Amino acid sequence: MSLHRALYALGSLVLLFTLTAADAVGDLQTKANTAWEAQLAKSTTCTKAKLQIRKEWGDVSKDDRKAYIKAVQCLIAAPSKLNKAKFPGAVTRYEDFVVTHMQQTLKIHGTGNFLSWHRYFTWSYEQALKTECGYNGTQPYWDWGRWADDPEKSPIFDGSDTSMSGNGLKVSHSATAVGPAQNGGGCVTTGPFANMTVRLGPISPMAAPAPPKNPQADGFGVNTRCLRRDIGPYLTKNYASTAIIAKLITNAKTVGPFQDTMEGGSGVHSAAHFTIGSDPGGDFYTSPNDPAFWLLHGMIDRVWTIWQGQDLANRQQVMAGGTSMFGGGALQKLTDIMDISNIRPQTYPLSQLMSTVDGPFCYMYA
Ligand code: CU
Ligand code: CU
Repeated sequence: MSLHRALYALGSLVLLFTLTAADAVGDLQTKANTAWEAQLAKSTTCTKAKLQIRKEWGDVSKDDRKAYIKAVQCLIAAPSKLNKAKFPGAVTRYEDFVVTHMQQTLKIHGTGNFLSWHRYFTWSYEQALKTECGYNGTQPYWDWGRWADDPEKSPIFDGSDTSMSGNGLKVSHSATAVGPAQNGGGCVTTGPFANMTVRLGPISPMAAPAPPKNPQADGFGVNTRCLRRDIGPYLTKNYASTAIIAKLITNAKTVGPFQDTMEGGSGVHSAAHFTIGSDPGGDFYTSPNDPAFWLLHGMIDRVWTIWQGQDLANRQQVMAGGTSMFGGGALQKLTDIMDISNIRPQTYPLSQLMSTVDGPFCYMYA
């Protein structure tokens, strides 16, 4: 074969692979989406014409990435709608979302509502980008497995003007309880969120060096500092590769083991959070203050839809776990109410948040 023909053959192969989401999780998603399309056909609220498609950041065009970034910057520039005396650290509308997560942290992690709460939270943020900042697109996600070998080089964190900003400046720092020191640790100085101001928290910082203390014990005071990150491949390679995500989806037959494995100390959820790490990303309470949070939780939500879609009839209206992170709470019920009225007045029973094509939702993942 001539070199030219060999290159041509290779080129076609690459094209084929990009068109067919050629990885194990993508294959599981293809199966799940068939089930979700059948569900969509039965929906009384969502239609094919209204359906929104969420994509991986790497599959979003550069123009569309810029539109998303602009909308996020708009929320960061808009004034807070919260009570200033109670939440002085919430200066911007963006920070209102952080406050809401901080207030409910102990009732939304390691609980039965973990998945549905974060689904509605992320969706509400997407709606705010649309209604308050003129965004026409959808919430993109970060496929940890796709970029597991080198997240810093991914289009999400490469520091370009079409990224969610790069790593923090490389500073010498120690390991945390979660993993070894990665390649940053200092302030984020590249990309659209360079020199972003953080004010809320910390409450439970897992960052080296440690961030300064908040002047209020509840973490809602003004504690002005920079956005920091400590990105590196250690956690994604070892705990959030495509093989590991696929195994999570196929191994767990009921929702309890699925969410517990996902949320556990060495699960994909922690691995993704601590791949951003540092401050506020490494703080359980304030992690939504890093604008990459929403791409991370888009992926959590996507993985849930893929898991549900393997057996949608039996995996849609199911829930396991309690109402309090440290146990002791009641058993979580589908009739429990999702309430984030700080940022979005509508409330829903959790049962209405289990399908992405029913209730308030009308979206699927590509
Ligand atoms: Cu959370
Ligand atoms: Cu999270």
